[in-house]
Amino acid sequence: MEKDIYILGIESSCDDTSAAVLKNGVLLSNVTASQAVHEAYGGVVPELASRAHQQNVVPVVSEAIKRAGITKEQLSAVAFTRGPGLMGSLLVGVNFAKGFARSLGIPMIDVNHLQGHVMAHFITSPSPSEGGEGLAQKGAEGNSSPLGRSGEVHPPFPFICLLVSGGNSQIVLVRAYNDMEVLGQTIDDAAGEAIDKCSKVMGLGYPGGPIIDRLARQGNPKAYQFAEPHIPGYDYSFSGLKTSFLYNLKKWVEDDPDFVEHHKEDLAASLEWTIVDILMKKLKLAVKDTGIKHVAVAGGVSANNGLRNAFHDYAKRFGWTVYIPKFSYTTDNAAMIGIVGYYKYMDKEFCSIDAPAFSKVTFK
Ligand code: KG4
Repeated sequence: MEKDIYILGIESSCDDTSAAVLKNGVLLSNVTASQAVHEAYGGVVPELASRAHQQNVVPVVSEAIKRAGITKEQLSAVAFTRGPGLMGSLLVGVNFAKGFARSLGIPMIDVNHLQGHVMAHFITSPSPSEGGEGLAQKGAEGNSSPLGRSGEVHPPFPFICLLVSGGNSQIVLVRAYNDMEVLGQTIDDAAGEAIDKCSKVMGLGYPGGPIIDRLARQGNPKAYQFAEPHIPGYDYSFSGLKTSFLYNLKKWVEDDPDFVEHHKEDLAASLEWTIVDILMKKLKLAVKDTGIKHVAVAGGVSANNGLRNAFHDYAKRFGWTVYIPKFSYTTDNAAMIGIVGYYKYMDKEFCSIDAPAFSKVTFK
């Protein structure tokens, strides 16, 4: 009888400490501790994030193992986010993972955080009843997509993935779990970063994404117009939009000090509309040029309802088959690190104890 493979995944690249356990590639537990300490500052404070990871990592890992119903001695390997991310945050997870793996005498597996976001589409939960989200919506063309163990539909290779988070905005051509090519990416701010900064200047709180999303549902997306970039190819730029939003808002607030309070829904809806429009235009170009109509979205901003609606709309209009992850797998989580860890384990791709954390954005 073949031995079961248990992978512990650990994620600590930014401000979420997360641990997950997978059995033979199927998720058993996924525990995340978020850090409220940053709310008062309107953004992540790296040193505070690192300290909070130190406090959280042991209880979070312990809870993930407990909820999985196993003992640590049953683990086959420890997978961890090696980068990109905040160096101080990464170091906590990386060093904990290495020490834990070494003490148990099992292999350690380094995982690229961005690869993890893309591979969130391959997380299989044990219960088929969890369906709904995470399922593909077929466009006019339709297709037969591979089924996961519990009936979830995963994108078939190759597919195009729009990866949008607080730190990244990229269009990725995914040929295999370990073969991804960045076709285009932001040359300045990420989409999530732009949303968070605009939310901050409106005095709405942090992180801005979910707040803007909620307000936008009640606003007019055509109420205000903000600058859209003119960048060649598949690359993005969001800093011009952010500046345009800031300068317009300053002007309006000078005329009416309560402007934000009176118009926050329309401001949020117009901002969201502009960002989604920028994202979708380049994505459409990439789909047209590659001819690949299986299109996924990943990363924290993929929780956005306006973006999700745009994906469904493009599926109908252009015959795409779109793949939208469950809300719980959009923002940083260890399940996505665990699934990459599982594939790497099967390929015997382990790393050495001296593999350093890295902060720079790369897929290698
Ligand atoms: O993937 P993630 O958790 O962290 C990074 O790896 O960066 O993404 C966090 C980003 C933040 O900018 C947050 O505001 C944004 O995702 N976000 C959203 C929504 N939920 C989270 N943006 C728009 N709409 C949302 N519902």
